[in-house]
Amino acid sequence: MVEFSPERFEEFKKIVAKYPQKDAALLPTLWMAQEDFGYLSLDVMKYVAKILDIPPSKVYSVASFYTMFKKKPTGKYLIQICRTLSCKLRGAEEVTEYICNKLGIGLNETTKDNKFTVIEVECLGSCGTAPMMQINNDYYENLTKRKIDSILDNLE
Ligand code: FES
Repeated sequence: MVEFSPERFEEFKKIVAKYPQKDAALLPTLWMAQEDFGYLSLDVMKYVAKILDIPPSKVYSVASFYTMFKKKPTGKYLIQICRTLSCKLRGAEEVTEYICNKLGIGLNETTKDNKFTVIEVECLGSCGTAPMMQINNDYYENLTKRKIDSILDNLE
């Protein structure tokens, strides 16, 4: 059964108390849910809808809009390659192809050992250092094949 622990539910209540309306706490609640459950499954989204007293469709539409919310399980390292204009002009497609080939997987796939998942995302706000990617919470910029090798080879 999907449910926050009693401690996390107390945290949730404190977050909700900061807002004039309960549904305004949707984004921080989704963050908490992703931290606790790993990704936002349909069951998790239904649970969030229930505790915020909002329709599940609203939770689903918000979770779907933001690429930082995971809708399915991913590997230990979620590689998010920016594909928007600046990165595209500076080789984002080659970066994606190089990483996928190196890991032996396609886009939106996870390695068999569950270590890496590769996805493309829209602008991550680091256009001046294109091409770039985010792995979990860290940015890696001005990517070259050599740099990519060093980054991925050093992730345990
Ligand atoms: S276009 Fe890639 S970070 Fe903005």
